[in-house]
Amino acid sequence: MQPMMLLVLVMACDLAAGPRRVQRLGRLTALHPHGLLGAMTVSHRITHITGGGSDGWDLFRKARRMIAQGRPVIELTIGEHDIRTDPRILDAMDAAARGGHTGYAAVPGIPDLRAEIAARVTVQSGIETTPEEVLVVPGGQAGLFMAHHATCDVGDGALYIDPYYATYPGTIRGAGAVALPVEARARDGFVPRAADIEAAIAGFDGRMRSLLLNTPNNPTGAVYGREALDEIAELCTRRDLWLISDEVYEGQVWEGEHISPRALPGMAERTLVVGSMSKGHAMTGSRVGWIVGPGEAIAALEDLATHMTYGIPGFIQDAALEALRMGVGFETEVAAPFRRRRDIAARLLAAQQVVHAVPMQGAMYAFLDIRATGLDGEGFADRLLKERGIAVMPGESFGRAAAGHVRVALTVDDARLEHALGELLALAAQLARKRGSEPTPRTA
Ligand SMILES: Cc1ncc(COP(=O)(O)O)c(C=O)c1O
Repeated sequence: MQPMMLLVLVMACDLAAGPRRVQRLGRLTALHPHGLLGAMTVSHRITHITGGGSDGWDLFRKARRMIAQGRPVIELTIGEHDIRTDPRILDAMDAAARGGHTGYAAVPGIPDLRAEIAARVTVQSGIETTPEEVLVVPGGQAGLFMAHHATCDVGDGALYIDPYYATYPGTIRGAGAVALPVEARARDGFVPRAADIEAAIAGFDGRMRSLLLNTPNNPTGAVYGREALDEIAELCTRRDLWLISDEVYEGQVWEGEHISPRALPGMAERTLVVGSMSKGHAMTGSRVGWIVGPGEAIAALEDLATHMTYGIPGFIQDAALEALRMGVGFETEVAAPFRRRRDIAARLLAAQQVVHAVPMQGAMYAFLDIRATGLDGEGFADRLLKERGIAVMPGESFGRAAAGHVRVALTVDDARLEHALGELLALAAQLARKRGSEPTPRTA
């Protein structure tokens, strides 16, 4: 068959996958010096992760480009601490590496670390947890990916709450499952309702396998209370769903208390908790976290880990052990600046009426409703970056329910944050004033 004919055939077959895929295939083919027969494509499973569309990080990349060009930008986009990993943790890492812990480490995690995590989870959740119920993983993101691989087969439905952490739908699609959002409403403080989850299950023509929850929540800062969690737990039991509980912000609670859904009656057998050293211990770059769940599921996940990562570096695990042994007092120290900055944000927001804050109950962000400016989150974030040199994440990066909001990471020192928020509020006030003075458009 002639290359041109084959191209037409391949493109025609691919039309079923939608125009974006055809474009991608066409580009790969055109770029290859040997023409179609030599062209390589990557799997649908991978290209399908973002579907070729935006991954929600466009503004972040734009801000990083501006910084690289030497332009002054206050960057309040990603959840990265403004402090580095504590020197005591680095010393432990260094000593472990120099002491020879540089070979392959035990795939499910070194025994001491698994035991330390199990003890911590037992104390914090009140649910007796054994080391065999803990798998050490390379960060919370990998934990989420693995948890969906463990619970969903190809084509199964996997629910997540919108607004959501930007990687959620791609993580689910990467596992071959169908990512199904359930909107949580601004008027409910962005806490999901069991009835909406129920409706999403009823609307899916296939086998529903899992629900992904995140409390304290990124991006909204909501901390789910007992009543909401009880209803969701009851629903998971009745509908026989796995609950994947993303608790990477468990140590950053400013109002209320963190309740791990695994601790609710009957939930330990159907919950996979994803935890991380990133946020609570300022160890984002070390890539270390855990999955806690029923022993059989953890044993199956160990098999996945064997074929995926073959464990994580022993010196990183030793450092994580040292960090955990520093106790909750250390975590409170790491969290303290965010509590303080959240209070600064609350004070500035209370002094004006244009921008409304979603109650900042936990995590390291302020989630702001900027709809009174007449712009959506993207439009507002764009202007804030262009006109005032301040980079925040548009709400739309976190789903439909987050439209008209922006997320501000509280990750610069107090003075810079106060300045940046002042600029944000000034721009919002200017836009709202202009909007108020414009004649109302006549409707036909
Ligand atoms: C809600 C949420 N889950 C998971 C992660 C992944 O964290 P990590 O992979 O650094 O542990 C993040 C990171 O920002 C997050 O915000």
